[in-house]
Amino acid sequence: HRHLLGIEALERTEILSILDAAESFFDVSRRSVRKVPTLRGKTVINLFYEPSTRTRTSFELAGKRLSADVINISVSTSSAVKGETLLDTVKNLEAMCPDVLVLRHQASGAPHYVASRTKAAVVNAGDGTHEHPTQALLDAFTIRRRKGRLEGLVVAICGDVLHSRVARSNALLLRKMGATVRFAGPRTLLPPAAESLGAEVHDRLEPALEGADVVMMLRVQRERLAGTFLPSTREYSRKFGLNEARLALAAPDAIVMHPGPMNRGVEIDPLVADGSRSVILDQVEAGVAVRMAVLWMLATEAEGEPTAGA
Ligand code: CP
Repeated sequence: HRHLLGIEALERTEILSILDAAESFFDVSRRSVRKVPTLRGKTVINLFYEPSTRTRTSFELAGKRLSADVINISVSTSSAVKGETLLDTVKNLEAMCPDVLVLRHQASGAPHYVASRTKAAVVNAGDGTHEHPTQALLDAFTIRRRKGRLEGLVVAICGDVLHSRVARSNALLLRKMGATVRFAGPRTLLPPAAESLGAEVHDRLEPALEGADVVMMLRVQRERLAGTFLPSTREYSRKFGLNEARLALAAPDAIVMHPGPMNRGVEIDPLVADGSRSVILDQVEAGVAVRMAVLWMLATEAEGEPTAGA
């Protein structure tokens, strides 16, 4: 592929190639080995229309550790605030010859729209409620490192599944890799067509947690909730928050994940978030290696070298 727009378009073998490439970049990403010249002369532009801490920073570090020139554009300080359209912004950036455009946008499908209209390789860094493919890849990388495999695992994805591009991309990836996916949350925050993603659906946390190998908690996305009925924060945390008692229902060696940002005390108890089962900061660490793998594969693909990558 010339772009990485979603997990949906990736084959199982392509996912494995990205995870394996990320393993080979892991030491560089963690700075136990100095940066490599792999992308010297390449330019990566991060164009973010929504706030980000982890994704934007890790794409920047990934590009820099591969020796690419990396430019960050945060929309609040760009001419988008003067009314410039997404396409005009992209065409103007394209005039400066970037090799890769990393785009986060509030509209589902925005990266697909841009990809068909630009010469640069486009990476979806989160589009509306649709997909966040590099998050799913870094989650898979983290799970595989801890569990040694993805196939046969039971993964409970809990909380505001309806608005979560992370849940969608994870369900698509994990199903392709042979894991069982359970969604759990309040009925108003469960997607109507969850079965089409191959996920079991529960409107209570407990049956989803039962024997799970991986528990992935999601943030309630209040910014996307206009018009949706929601219990109060206290009620939500009482019924759908992950605490130590609920975590005891999962497998004895279960790991706890959260893509961030967390609402501590709402979907996750701080004792669990900071506890020994939490791999939340390992996910962030994996983000740099996985994004190095994605940038490397797209750059190699653009040079016409045959790869199985994104
Ligand atoms: N997980 C994630 O996408 O975090 P940011 O919004 O901080 O990038």
